[in-house]
Parts: sequence; C-alpha cells; structure tokens
Amino acid sequence: MSYQTEYLNSLQEPEFFWAEQAKRIDWYRPADEVLSKDENGLYRWYEGAMTNTAYLALDFHVENGRGDQVALYYDSPVTQTKQQYTYREMRDKVAKIAGGLKQQGVSKGDTVIIYMPMIPEAVMSMLACARLGAVHSVVFGGFAPHELAIRIDDARPKVLITASSGIEVDRIIPYKPMVDKAMELAEFKPEKVVIFQRKLGALVPSKNYDIDFEEMVADAESVGCTPVYATDPLYILYTSGTTGKPKGVVRDNGGHAVALRYSMEKIYGIEAGDVYWAASDIGWVVGHSYIVYAPLLTGASTILFEGKPIRTPDASTFWRIISEYKVKVMFTAPTAIRAIRKEDPNGSFIKQYDLSSLKFQFLAGERCDVDTLKWLEAQLGIPVIDHWWQTESGWPMLSNFPGIELMEVKPGSVTKPVVGYDLRILVEDGSEAAAGEEGYVAVKLPLPPGCLPTLWNNVAGFKSSYLEKFEGYYFSGDGGFKDAEGFTYITGRVDDVINVAGHRLSTVEMEEVVSAHPAVAECAVIGAHCDLKGQIPMALVVSHQSGKPFQEVAEEIVGAVRSEIGAVAALKKVYQVARLPKTRSGKTLRKLLRAIVNQEEIKIPSTIDDPAIVQEINDIIHPNVNQKTS
Ligand code: COA
Ligand code: AMP
Repeated sequence: MSYQTEYLNSLQEPEFFWAEQAKRIDWYRPADEVLSKDENGLYRWYEGAMTNTAYLALDFHVENGRGDQVALYYDSPVTQTKQQYTYREMRDKVAKIAGGLKQQGVSKGDTVIIYMPMIPEAVMSMLACARLGAVHSVVFGGFAPHELAIRIDDARPKVLITASSGIEVDRIIPYKPMVDKAMELAEFKPEKVVIFQRKLGALVPSKNYDIDFEEMVADAESVGCTPVYATDPLYILYTSGTTGKPKGVVRDNGGHAVALRYSMEKIYGIEAGDVYWAASDIGWVVGHSYIVYAPLLTGASTILFEGKPIRTPDASTFWRIISEYKVKVMFTAPTAIRAIRKEDPNGSFIKQYDLSSLKFQFLAGERCDVDTLKWLEAQLGIPVIDHWWQTESGWPMLSNFPGIELMEVKPGSVTKPVVGYDLRILVEDGSEAAAGEEGYVAVKLPLPPGCLPTLWNNVAGFKSSYLEKFEGYYFSGDGGFKDAEGFTYITGRVDDVINVAGHRLSTVEMEEVVSAHPAVAECAVIGAHCDLKGQIPMALVVSHQSGKPFQEVAEEIVGAVRSEIGAVAALKKVYQVARLPKTRSGKTLRKLLRAIVNQEEIKIPSTIDDPAIVQEINDIIHPNVNQKTS
C-alpha cells in the first residue's frame, strides 16, 4: 500500500475508511453512525459507540498478555530518579487513584484540573479521570496563578490535582502556593485540592480544601472503567488564540483513540512492544497525545522525562535516554535540537552513545529551520521528519509516512497531508492557491477522527474561530504553500499567536497585561525571530509621563508578564516608542510591525496615517540597520 492509495481511500470513502480503523480498538458497543452531525450542525465520529480510553490504554493490554511489559519509564535527571511501571502496575495504580477521586465525589462528566510537573502521578491522574469518565484539563506548570484561575473559571473543576513542587533544572518551583493563589483569584472554587507531596523544599501550610494524594489513594478501593460514549469528552486542553482568553479545545474519547492508534502505526511506524519517546510536557498537546495516550493505546512503552535537553546535566541527556531505553522513534521540538547544537556543535556527545535503536526522529511544535534539520540528519544518519499539527487536531495534519511509505524528506517541507485530512491552501477569496503561491492552510470538512469537535462550552467561538473564514473548511491559523509535487511548506501563523521555544502563546494576552501597567498608554506585543527559541515576544510601548524612568517601567512590565502569564512567556524586551503605526481609521498595523521587528522587507501600506513612524521604530529596535522599504 502506498501513501497515495491510502490517502485517496481515506478521502473518497471516509466513513468506510474510519469504520475499518475503528476495528483496531475494543468497543463496549459499536457506533450507530460512523459520521454524523450533532444538534449544532457539527461533525461527530462514532455516534452511539461506547468505550473507555483508560481501558484501552491499560486494562486491554493486561488482559491481552502485556501485563508485565513496561508501560512507562520515568527518567528524572533533576531528581536523579529512574522508575518504571508495567502495564499491570499502571492499571492497578490508576484504578486506586480513580477510586480516591471517586471518594472525593468525582464521577462521569465532572471536570478535574491537573496542574502537575512531569511525574508519573500526573500521567496516572489523567488516566484515572479517563477511567471514571471524568474530563481532565491539564494546565502547563509554567503558567502563573492568574492563567490557572482563568482555566478554573472556564472548566469549573470539582477537584484540582497538583504536586507540592516542580523542578526547573536546579530550581524548586513551589506549585502549592501558586495553586492557593489561583484558588483565591478564581471565582469558581473547586471543592478539593489533591496534593502529591514530593518532599522537596519546605512544607507549605495546608488549607481546608487540601487532600493528601497518597493518603487519598491508600484509603481508596480500586474502581473499574466507566463506559462512555465515543463522543463524550476525554479532556479539555486550553490553548492560546487571538483573544485574551485561551480556548478550551475539546477531545472526545472514540475518535481520539482510533486516530492515535492509527497514527502510531502508519505515521511513526510504532508497534506494540516498541519504545517511543516524545520529549515534551504533559501540559501541551504533544504530551497528551504522544507521551500519554498514543503509546499506551498501542501497547508501546513511553518515556516521561523530567528534565531539559541541556543543563540536566548537559547536552548528552537525549542521547543517553535513547540508548538506555532503546528508543525506536523520538519526537521533540526544533528548539531543543538548537539548544543541544549550541552546546555540542560537533555532536561529540552523540558519538558516545549507541543510537542504533533509533529509526526516525520527528520534529514539530514550531517551524524548523533547514540548517537545524540538516545538522541533526547528518549527526544521526536517519530520516529527520518535520511534521505539522496543532492542539486543535490532536495528531499530525501534515507529515511523512514512514509507517506506510517513507517519502522524500525535503528540508523545509512538512511533506504531505496526513491520511484523512483534505488539506488545501486557500487564498483570500476561498479559491485554491496555485503551486508555489502562499495562502491559508485549511482542511475541507469533515476533519478526521481525533480532531476537536468543538470548544468547551463555546460552540459559537468554535464556529467563529475556525469555520467562518472559509465556508466548509477548518481554518488552521497558519500560512503555507504547496510545491508542484504537493509537498507542503508552512510559513507561520497569520494571526497573533506566537511560538516561543515550542510553547504556543498569545500576544494579545500579553498586551492585556502590558496595557494594565499605569505608565502604558498603548502597546503592541510582536513575535520577534530568535535563533534559539524560534520566536520571542517583544513589547513596543507608548508611555504616559509617569515620572518614572522608562527602564523602571520596562522592568515592571517584564515582571508583570512573568507573574500574570508565567515565566514561559519569556517577555524580556520592552521598547519605548513615540507612537504605533496605524491606519487612518486607527487600526494598529501589526503586520507592518512584524516586518520591522523581524527585519523583513517593509511594504508601507497606503492606508498608513504617518509613514515617518516606520523609520523611527526601526531606528529604536535596530539602530545602525537600514531596512529595505517599498
Ligand atoms: N514550570 C515552571 N517554570 C517553567 C516550566 C515549568 N514547567 N517550563 C519552563 N519554565 C520556565 C523556565 O524555568 C524559564 O524560566 P527563567 O526565565 O526563570 O529561566 C522560562 O519558563 C522559560 O522556559 P523555556 O522556554 O523552557 O526556556 P529555558 O531557557 O529554560 O530552556 C530550552 C530553553 C530550549 C532548553 C527549552 O525551551 C526547551 O527544552 N524547549 C523545548 C520545548 C518543548 O519541548 N516544547 C514542547 C512542544 S513539542
Ligand atoms: P500547538 O497548538 O501548541 O501545537 O501549536 C500549533 C502551532 O505551532 C501551529 O499552528 C503552527 O503555527 C506551529 N507549528 C507546529 N508544528 C509546526 C511545524 N512543523 N512547522 C511550522 N510550524 C509548526
């Protein structure tokens, strides 16, 4: 079977194709309809079918002879800990955690927020929710209390699960005080906060809503898997959009399991028994899909890595892990590779390890520069595959397909549309772009199983964010083009979402924080190119006369973004400008600002109210550089 045949089959007869794929997983009840529309006119997969994702990820494998195989390796250089859990051990622990949560009143359909570092109890808590049919929402540990509070108010969780602390290289991050702060800030109050004590650092005084994780589990009975509908939500994952408020991407149970199972075999070339490693964080979609669910649904062994590509202890860590656990396929963000390359440009660490188990290296999460890809390919001597997807899709949308057919690896390209995605490049009027012409990356509906069916409690937002720009299409927010052979290139976001070290962030959200500073009259936050992190945010500020030196104002702004959004936002550069470029009707010319900041060719729009401002801002940000303008 070639990629092309499989791809065409999936588009010509999607219902037949995805009914066949659904046979790969175990159902309590088959679907009444493979593809249907719900009461909001939105597509749903496997209506009427019943399953349980935790059953498929754990119990199924124990019942089918994989009980003694390692399901999860935990490797934590920051605590110098290594642990491993077999499928049987994971199932038993998850069943007890689920029992503990049940005692706390969590049942099918309830929401639970998980705000935890990269520890096995975090993965087990996700699966325990799935076991109960409860809906988890994992919040990335790098987000500050204010961000956590926003998510609490939107998801309205019955229980919040956290840990006493995380570790960033050699720095203890106390999670519990951040949770307490978020509990104060949120209008909605979860009934209980379950805390896993890591016994790192000082004990934080307890609150009346606190429950100790281990005590809760010790007293609990093991519970079985609650059948849920394929269309019931498995999780909500908040992601940055173009407004100040994150969007709650919903993932269902049935389509998700089918799609991830399919992707492991056909995209990544992974089978039961193989070792797969996604070096990401469970707070991001890559962590949900490819640290937790996909490897376990497949009966593979996954690795939970609590560390960084460098400094834990050095740039050899990735290669040690690959060789130690015999990783077959690895997945990380280009930033991680750039960080490693900076420390070890000649790949001397790479040469010290036996990496013969590694067949494919996948990259995603942000644009990968050709230089980094070629460097890694030369170092590893295996295909390095850049592939493209988003929180919304939950699994790849553009990729090479080594599980079926390894196509040519064209550096700079993310290869071809994934099976099931009728992906097109559209221009403004909705027609298809010609080969080589840049346009908007869109997917003709229906999206395949696994993709978001809607946003949490926000059908209108789902429609306006994704479905209204091009009728009959899902709009991704990215720009790109296809070459004459159909290989696709992603050119980047066409909106105000930026990607900082593979972390998706909203500049609008940052602008809200910057604008709240009393000395700020007006501002714009723009994604600036960064050789290491891909992009970093940069704030341009028009200030009031506050009497304070601007340097002080800038430091306060940096501090405010860090404490309101989180360290991960990494806003470090704040420039004072006299005014922002605007159209005559008063709209900030953000595209123009992006061009100035990134030293791209500047096209001054005819609608600009004051052309002189372009040179002024350029001189402030890039003194001594004359940008080309037209
Ligand atoms: N909890 C608390 N703080 C966190 C955090 C977490 N989970 N994750 C990051 N932070 C903090 C960092 O400590 C850092 O704080 P600092 O400004 O005080 O140093 C800040 O947020 C920025 O973090 P990061 O962007 O990770 O930068 P870094 O300099 O610590 O590390 C890299 C640089 C390249 C090593 C790192 O960004 C990396 O590994 N990137 C790959 C990302 C990735 O895998 N993304 C997943 C998408 S597939
Ligand atoms: P996230 O939802 O956090 O996974 O971020 C998704 C966004 O990251 C996409 O919309 C793209 O802008 C960007 N992205 C992800 N993978 C790639 C890639 N391989 N190449 C270019 N951009 C990417």
